[in-house]
Amino acid sequence: MQVKAVSDNSKFIRISTDETDLLLRTGSNERLYQVYLGPKLLQKSDLANLPAFNIDGKEAYQTSGAEDYFESALAITHADGNMTTILKYVSSEVKKQDENVSETIITLKDEVYPITVKLHYVTYGKENIIKSWSEISHSERKPIILNRYASSMLYFENPAYFLTEFSGDWAKEVNMSTQELKFGKKILETKLGSRAGMHTSPFFELGLGQPASEHQGDVVLGTIGWTGNFRFTFEVDNVGNLRVSSGINPYASSYELKPGEIFTTPEFIFTFSQEGTGKASRNFHSWARNYQLKDGKGDRLTLLNNWENTSFNFNEEILSDLMKEAKHLGVDMFLLDDGWFGNKYPRNDDHAGLGDWEAMHKKLPHGIPFLVNAAKEAGVKFGIWIEPEMVNPKSELFEKHPDWVIHQPNRETYYFRNQLVLDLSNPKVQDFVFDVVDKIMKENPEVAFFKWDCNSPITNIYSPYLKEKQNQLYINHVRGIYNVFNRVKEKYPNIPMMLCSGGGARCDYEALKYFTEFWPSDNTDPIERLYIQWGFSQFFPSKAMCAHVTSWNRNTSIKFRTDVAMMCKLGFDIGLKDLNADELAYCQNAVANFKRLKGTILDGDQYRLVSPYETNHTAIMYVGQGQDKAVLYTFDINPRYQEKLFPVKLQGLDPQKKYKVEEINLMTGRKSNLKENGRTLSGDYLMKVGLHPFTSNRTNSRIIEITAE
Ligand code: DGJ
Repeated sequence: MQVKAVSDNSKFIRISTDETDLLLRTGSNERLYQVYLGPKLLQKSDLANLPAFNIDGKEAYQTSGAEDYFESALAITHADGNMTTILKYVSSEVKKQDENVSETIITLKDEVYPITVKLHYVTYGKENIIKSWSEISHSERKPIILNRYASSMLYFENPAYFLTEFSGDWAKEVNMSTQELKFGKKILETKLGSRAGMHTSPFFELGLGQPASEHQGDVVLGTIGWTGNFRFTFEVDNVGNLRVSSGINPYASSYELKPGEIFTTPEFIFTFSQEGTGKASRNFHSWARNYQLKDGKGDRLTLLNNWENTSFNFNEEILSDLMKEAKHLGVDMFLLDDGWFGNKYPRNDDHAGLGDWEAMHKKLPHGIPFLVNAAKEAGVKFGIWIEPEMVNPKSELFEKHPDWVIHQPNRETYYFRNQLVLDLSNPKVQDFVFDVVDKIMKENPEVAFFKWDCNSPITNIYSPYLKEKQNQLYINHVRGIYNVFNRVKEKYPNIPMMLCSGGGARCDYEALKYFTEFWPSDNTDPIERLYIQWGFSQFFPSKAMCAHVTSWNRNTSIKFRTDVAMMCKLGFDIGLKDLNADELAYCQNAVANFKRLKGTILDGDQYRLVSPYETNHTAIMYVGQGQDKAVLYTFDINPRYQEKLFPVKLQGLDPQKKYKVEEINLMTGRKSNLKENGRTLSGDYLMKVGLHPFTSNRTNSRIIEITAE
């Protein structure tokens, strides 16, 4: 690698949180380079000593066609067919939003072609989070083609790099696996279009020097806010540097950008932690609650859902009884799932009716108003399921508007779950989807919640609306979805909404601006959920993650199933008639405990203490604001015969405070056999010596309340 010194009048741009510095510097060639990314530098005078590279360096927004031989952030075909772009620094400005948040905007231009790129970096000081995206525009005579358009490019220089990815499928989301990155590329991407995260989730962890671990080591956690095709490219180059470029997946999406049009990339959001993934996750959790999630600081509703219980088979009487059960259980709301609509093509299974959002006369002769009223009489709120971006070919919507549907005009149609995706690049379709929500709300202003599902990837890539501009489909479709989400949020800012995609295939932080929570998986087997919730918790706070008690894995006790669900936003999806008197009493008590402790569980700091990936047990705790209350969850998954049971050392407590230790959520008549139950112990003791909650019994669980005296 050739390295040249920079001129003295180089420009430094410092992008900092309370704990992290990202430093950019112009070279003597006026191009912009990353010279540092890591823990915050304490001495300002040290900045000038940082190296700067002009050639083969770490260009902040690497362009294509010049002298760099590795992955670029931006690749343009200019109007005259030329494929090179070289960006030079022009200016930068800082906009302080408040004490904690500020935005740096850097303008770069090509001297030969009239291309402008603005790099945006928003820093969240306390939360130690940086968001970055770019805006690309031009004033060439004719449209240019964007072949690649990353949101961000970051560089690392470490002896080794380890990538943790989150992959899976329906009902087995976010399996964490780690591999070392060697020379060449590793790509994490999706091409599924709408149910985009079904096989790979839009986030990653990077261990610098060693594999990412929970309590120590340098790690970077990154995620992209894009509810469609995304791509992360990790490339180790000839000198052992790693570059990470993140953005929309350019697959089948070379974008035609008109003169004067601004192409805005999605937000790439990341944090750097020197204390492992535990700290990095807490950064994400508090940032999400403070800034990103819809109603991030607000309350959440406990609920009873009917999907696992009744599936499509219900009527007014069955639902009215369930609403009474919801009340009896003590939850806030009844949530009606799939199967309530369609008349010409009734939705009695997943083959028909999607798109026809009229209540089904046969099941619900008095429509939604009856249900809203029945819920009111029962004393709970009423929420409803929709999947408004989709259509079954067996529907009146498809009969009327086949041109609103993404499908091939001249090839056999391929169906996923017997359905097709509506063409959200078409403004008329956007209106239709918005109207699904708007009509329900106008007719039933007391509807208190929506579960918004999305069960199919885009399967037959052709938009009748875009005609010869098919290469805009994947991008314009997602923009159309955001247009609808935005209209819904503007008109109904206070309505909580659950983001769902056949389980957890949609969970990016752009969509979560419009949703209060998401559904991590249809798999509610509590053992599987321990892993799934562990995986999603790397990026999302418990407040955003719905967890329901169901009949999946009946071999586990109702206590075990409920204790697992109580780590996130608690709900039930089970008939109370399936429970005996003791089990019902236990559940009622659990709901009351959850409501009493949700300030700590949903808004506290999470500490993942013992990993289910590494041991036969797992333990997680939450510590509330002020360190006066904590809740510890411990689970024995599959202990071995005469296995040594280690104590669990707590974290996040005040060492000086004294805490009362009390096991809760016990079955009626059961006394706690926790060794330390009822004792008062110092935070110091609890964090250094710990408790002994683990047992040799399979699928045993405990919830332990820890209260400062
Ligand atoms: C998939 C969701 O993940 C389920 O919870 C349920 O709502 C079904 N769709 C309904 O079709």
